[in-house]
Amino acid sequence: MTMPNVDLAAIEPPEQPLRPFRLLRTIVDNPIKAWPRAAYRDRLFRLRMLGWETVYVMAPDLIRTVLLDEADQVEKGELARRALGPVLGEAILTADGAKWRWQRRAVAAIFRQERVRSFLPEMIAAAERTRDRWRALPPGSEIDIAHEMMRTTFDIILSTVVSGRGEIDCDRMERAIVDYQESTSWIIALTMAGAPRWVPYPGIRRARRARAHLHGTLESLIAEAKQKPGDRNDLLSLLTNATDPETGRSMNDIDLRNNLLTFITAGHETTALALTWTFYLLSRHPEVEQRVRDEIAAVTGGGCLRAEHIDALVYTGQVIQEATRLYPPVALIVRAALRDLKLGDEEVRAGTTISIPVYAVHRHEALWEDPHRFDPGRFDPEAVKARDRYAYLPFGAGPRICIGQGFAQMEATAVLATLLSSFRLQLRSGHIPEPRLRVTLRPTGGMPMRVSAVRASALTSMQAAV
Ligand code: HEM
Repeated sequence: MTMPNVDLAAIEPPEQPLRPFRLLRTIVDNPIKAWPRAAYRDRLFRLRMLGWETVYVMAPDLIRTVLLDEADQVEKGELARRALGPVLGEAILTADGAKWRWQRRAVAAIFRQERVRSFLPEMIAAAERTRDRWRALPPGSEIDIAHEMMRTTFDIILSTVVSGRGEIDCDRMERAIVDYQESTSWIIALTMAGAPRWVPYPGIRRARRARAHLHGTLESLIAEAKQKPGDRNDLLSLLTNATDPETGRSMNDIDLRNNLLTFITAGHETTALALTWTFYLLSRHPEVEQRVRDEIAAVTGGGCLRAEHIDALVYTGQVIQEATRLYPPVALIVRAALRDLKLGDEEVRAGTTISIPVYAVHRHEALWEDPHRFDPGRFDPEAVKARDRYAYLPFGAGPRICIGQGFAQMEATAVLATLLSSFRLQLRSGHIPEPRLRVTLRPTGGMPMRVSAVRASALTSMQAAV
């Protein structure tokens, strides 16, 4: 399919690196806006702010060096520890070295494909709850798809963390996650400016209250589950019984709390954003939307989506992959060098921050033809084989690759297919959702879209042909 060129929301990079004060202000507002044109054109560049040096790496061979070949010589570092450590502690996402290794080994089996597949009915059921909520709306209602997707994926992650969950105030918990995240830009900017940990920042009290709420909620869930042990298929019981196959070590209550909170925060918002940006791109490319709808109808025979349909939704999967290229929910991966390293010909001193600006790598002019254009054909199997593995990193790479990748892909396909077979979504005219990096890549101003039910006759052209 030849894809038309459609103007899409994107960041216009500054031609030259910003000067220190403007750089700091931009990092607090939207760090991607601080990445100069070089991020989309060069193999590597350096940025120095006050005493803090960062090397930005875009060339796939150098990214491979950082994430795979020299993975033992880098760590998550001070930025991650200061930004996320207070709320997530030393769990899989934030720990380094031996503390990370045993936890990753202990939970690996839980995230194997066959195991994750058993969560599909929960995923589809949550998508159907969203579908039913939308069906009850007055015709032509406008809703914020970003918020709706957060609700849906939050519903899914909570149902998989604790099956038959009791009293959780979902809205309050979501608000706490957002409140905490809002504080992280300040923490990152202050860390880069060399400020010690005790320096206060705007929103510090709100962030502390949010953390207390999140910890309290998870601790009560764990205590409740321990009082009624049973044979449940949920992450809490799987994690409670998980052991490191090498040492036999299992998780104490703090490890459980921190890891469950990690799955909830790392898992729900990222997937919600992948879906939100996918809906945005589909609304701008009706011909792709129709092809996805045709595929869904052909696979499900026009009936309800079931777990066994997911693997056959191949084109739908490609559309989601292309959406996470243009708008990667994790748009920046950060490491710190533990010792002096060589990245190609470049010396990187111990302690230097190494940033992989995923958003820019995914739009790099040397790696992608017409990089800002939406084209799911880029993920045809032949095209994928011909491309460098390290040019496309929505889930990272190497030993610290996202453990929830299979979970997220199944979930996104299930939600998209369930909703798209019932509704058409149209972006509010004139709305430009600028991508803004706040740990994850969110659309500024949300994603206001008008929902209308799809008429059965408009469902598919392919169905008629079958
Ligand atoms: C579209 C959805 C998702 C995206 C784009 C995404 C992206 C990523 C990326 C890029 C990393 C690597 C970060 C780094 O190297 O610094 C990562 C790590 C991680 N993700 Fe995801 N993720 C998604 C969904 C999920 C889900 C559903 C879960 C769990 C239920 C999850 C749990 C984790 C965990 C625990 C890690 C840390 C792994 C480690 O350090 O060993 N993610 N994710």
